[in-house]
Amino acid sequence: MTNANLFDPFDLHGLKLPNRILMSAMTRTRATEDDVPTDLISEYYVQRASAGLIVTECTQVSDQGHGIMRAPGIHRADQIAAWRKVTDAVHAADGHIYNQIWHCGRVAHPDMRGGAQPVAPSAIPATGDFFLPSGRVDFPIPRALGIEEIAPIVETFAQATRNAREAGFDGVELHGANGYLQDQFLRDGSNQRTDDYGGAVTNRAHFMLETIDAMVAAWSPERVGVRLSPSGLLYGMHDSDALTTFSYVIKELSARRVGYLCLLEPNAKDLTTGTVQIEHVAKTFRPLFSGPLMINSGFDKAKGQAVLASGDADLVAFGTMFIANPDLPDRFRRDTPLNKLDPSTFYGVGPKGYTDYPRLAA
Ligand SMILES: Cc1cc2nc3c(=O)[nH]c(=O)nc-3n(C[C@H](O)[C@H](O)[C@H](O)COP(=O)(O)O)c2cc1C
Repeated sequence: MTNANLFDPFDLHGLKLPNRILMSAMTRTRATEDDVPTDLISEYYVQRASAGLIVTECTQVSDQGHGIMRAPGIHRADQIAAWRKVTDAVHAADGHIYNQIWHCGRVAHPDMRGGAQPVAPSAIPATGDFFLPSGRVDFPIPRALGIEEIAPIVETFAQATRNAREAGFDGVELHGANGYLQDQFLRDGSNQRTDDYGGAVTNRAHFMLETIDAMVAAWSPERVGVRLSPSGLLYGMHDSDALTTFSYVIKELSARRVGYLCLLEPNAKDLTTGTVQIEHVAKTFRPLFSGPLMINSGFDKAKGQAVLASGDADLVAFGTMFIANPDLPDRFRRDTPLNKLDPSTFYGVGPKGYTDYPRLAA
């Protein structure tokens, strides 16, 4: 047990977080049609600047990594300049902001990528729903990447890290969770390669660890966070031995002294199906990671306080509560009711359900 509390400040390697109530990465599809952050995106993050740390929505590192319409990128000069406006505004509001960088891998459709087939470790399609303006479609069979294509993708993450730094971010988070490219390589349900990037976990982890090493070299270990979902089943993800797979990776991340590790607990829906392999993610992996551990998924104020007090995590990230409550730390502090969340506007365009959730009166 510890005395840690959600309202305690936290020193993230010199970055002074005012509290441990963090905002997790959330795609909101409010960028322009050619994937540039807008003034509305800036306003949204400024409204949430009282979070101990904001992690932005996933931001593609290249056109090849583009999997969501109106998701912003960080690989072109116009995107970097537009992000600079966002980070300046958040800093002027005394906030801290990291950029989550991402490659969709197989979770994409050619119809929203100029016909380009999605790529993946192996030619195994994702499962689940994908929505185009025309409606729901199945995921296509992705093209298995040639071994010579892997190093250039790693380099796009290094360049995105340099770009994020140039854009004024306080750090970067690798989106290694939720069934996207690094996660696809890591887990054996989506990786059936027979080269150095497939087979044993030491091989399946290569791509993720090479990416992290490149990001660290592009900035510094302290400024690189990593997000993993050891129990995540999204988009048909699974692993025949999740405990061994994620234990290996998390020990490697600890040895590399990355700035933080953000872990997702299994969500309520997956737990009720009985298919989740690791039920208590923070408790299971805390002993393996010596740096700051951030936990996310399904937390409210009481559960957040409890996980900090247990010592199983140092920081708690909140997703949907931050969508509906721009002033979440203030509401937690004053124990006031929370706004009702409107999921129908998660992926809309414009301010409705984005920047129009009310704040508490002072
Ligand atoms: C609308 C929406 C978009 C999301 N987009 C991302 C994303 O871009 N990157 C990511 O890592 N997680 C994403 N997530 C997952 C959230 O960060 C978070 O893990 C999830 O909402 C569970 O936390 P919560 O129970 O506090 O909401 C998204 C979730 C929602 C609801």
